[in-house]
Amino acid sequence: MSDLKIIGIASGKGGVGKTTISTNLAVALAEAGNQVMLFDGDLGLANAQLALGVQTEYNFSDVISGEKSLQDIVVRGPSGIFVAPGASGMGKMAGLNEAELRGVVQSFSEFQEPLDYLIVDAAAGIAPSVTTFLKACHQTLVVVRDEPSSIADAYGIIKVLTTEHNYTNIGLIPNGVTNQRSGQLLYQRLNAVCVKFLNLDLEYTYSIESDETILEAARKYAPVMTHSPGSMAARDFRKLAKEIKMLPVTLRASGGLQFFVERMLTPETEVSNG
Ligand SMILES: Nc1ncnc2c1ncn2[C@@H]1O[C@H](COP(=O)(O)OP(=O)(O)OP(=O)(O)O)[C@@H](O)[C@H]1O
Ligand SMILES: [Mg+2]
Repeated sequence: MSDLKIIGIASGKGGVGKTTISTNLAVALAEAGNQVMLFDGDLGLANAQLALGVQTEYNFSDVISGEKSLQDIVVRGPSGIFVAPGASGMGKMAGLNEAELRGVVQSFSEFQEPLDYLIVDAAAGIAPSVTTFLKACHQTLVVVRDEPSSIADAYGIIKVLTTEHNYTNIGLIPNGVTNQRSGQLLYQRLNAVCVKFLNLDLEYTYSIESDETILEAARKYAPVMTHSPGSMAARDFRKLAKEIKMLPVTLRASGGLQFFVERMLTPETEVSNG
């Protein structure tokens, strides 16, 4: 059984770079020799499939209905990553009946390929459909830009995860910063507030600098990692992938893919990060 690490990419506010980071991080981890699946948890227009230039016929609702297996809905993306399209209403997973639940869990446990990483591109905000995903992840990385509204909303999602879901495995990815130093300072500012008011020390990962090449790649429906491997942005994503490898895993780490669904289905009161 593989030692699967599940990483959620989240943000309080929309449009801060979750999909850009999820897709490029997935490719960077794959290029470093890992087997990676990207779960597209956001069904908005700017979704991961578009960013990767792949198309899917089915999505996770076909797995819930029992018509397809996880294997059936997954497509291959750049650098061999597996892309799994989510479904709206995944927050209602807890409301499925026994048979449906067994089907979903079985579908995950039957997935043939061993995986090292599952990256979840979550939707923005703190809706139950989002926190259901995130609390199932070993680590949630909150994307934040150096703007008052982004910082306030990042604090908002961190507060909800910590105080309402007892979930504390949270790290930060400053995005669109002018240099690494300003990314670190942004982390320090937000972390100081979390330490003071939530008694929570956030993990720092790596910052993604603002880079025009990301926009050029997006216009070509390609991740910057494959579109411009020599760019500054691609360098940042390779460094981010290295840092991700070193993140501590304090939740039950083994158990493969079904761990993810099992945790999604765990009633709130039973969730603990001890
Ligand atoms: N570091 C960066 N440098 C330059 N442009 C960036 C950077 N990160 C993201 N972008 C651009 O910012 C826009 C928003 O990024 P993205 O779609 O990844 O955000 P998101 O958080 O997934 O948004 P949503 O909440 O709508 O899903 C895109 O046009 C993307 O190309
Ligand atoms: Mg997105």
